[in-house]
Amino acid sequence: MKKERKLIIAGNWKMNKTVAEALDLVRGLRIELGHIKEADIVICPPFTALPAVSQAIMNSTLRLGAQNMSENNFGAYTGEIAAGMLKEFLVRYVILGHSERRQYQKETDALISKKALAAHAAALKPIVCVGELLSEREAGQTETVLRAQLSGSLAGLTPGQMEETIVAYEPVWAIGTGKTATAAQAQEAHAFIRGQLRKLFNDAVARRARIQYGGSVKPSNARELMGQEDVDGALVGGASLDDRSFSDIIRNSVS
Ligand code: PGA
Repeated sequence: MKKERKLIIAGNWKMNKTVAEALDLVRGLRIELGHIKEADIVICPPFTALPAVSQAIMNSTLRLGAQNMSENNFGAYTGEIAAGMLKEFLVRYVILGHSERRQYQKETDALISKKALAAHAAALKPIVCVGELLSEREAGQTETVLRAQLSGSLAGLTPGQMEETIVAYEPVWAIGTGKTATAAQAQEAHAFIRGQLRKLFNDAVARRARIQYGGSVKPSNARELMGQEDVDGALVGGASLDDRSFSDIIRNSVS
């Protein structure tokens, strides 16, 4: 199926993989995915594996992403990593505002927007995550939550920067639970998000910006999800930790 926007499929390894394990996985991915050009493929290892993985994906179609970064460029911020440090390892993407960071590190929309601006200043493409909790969906608040997250997390971006920003719609109840949103639920949320991008920016931005779905994406549901008009890719957690399942997701998405 030919889509207007190029699919972007990213693997979020979260806090998994030593350097040796990461290199093993990348070896498999290079063999399985080396020839695929129909989708942008991004892998997001933990910080400690970035240097080795960066070397290991040289001269391949795989691209590198980080899972977080500081909103500051340098200085007395113990334990933080700046965009410029990621650039040293040819990182091109950075996941921002993942629901796990919103929950455990109490990241706010205002902080996420600062990080998104800092990412763009360093020519990194942010993957900005949004998504509702189960209780919010059940209370009929999905659109209200998404509207607030989008206007807060994308605040201050220029239309040009927004075109180079990826939004990941990740309903929190679907992350790591094995419970995927149905294709219809995903499409409905993605269409709503695109409508918000039109309101916050303009029509061209809304047409060009890519919106990924995340939450228990697996080989068996990838094709149907990616077949939805406003679904432009996937942010994959658990199933990205295995070369076969991540490769099958990508193959099923592009075929
Ligand atoms: P999952 O995680 O695929 O394991 O549900 C998705 C994510 O958190 O990005």
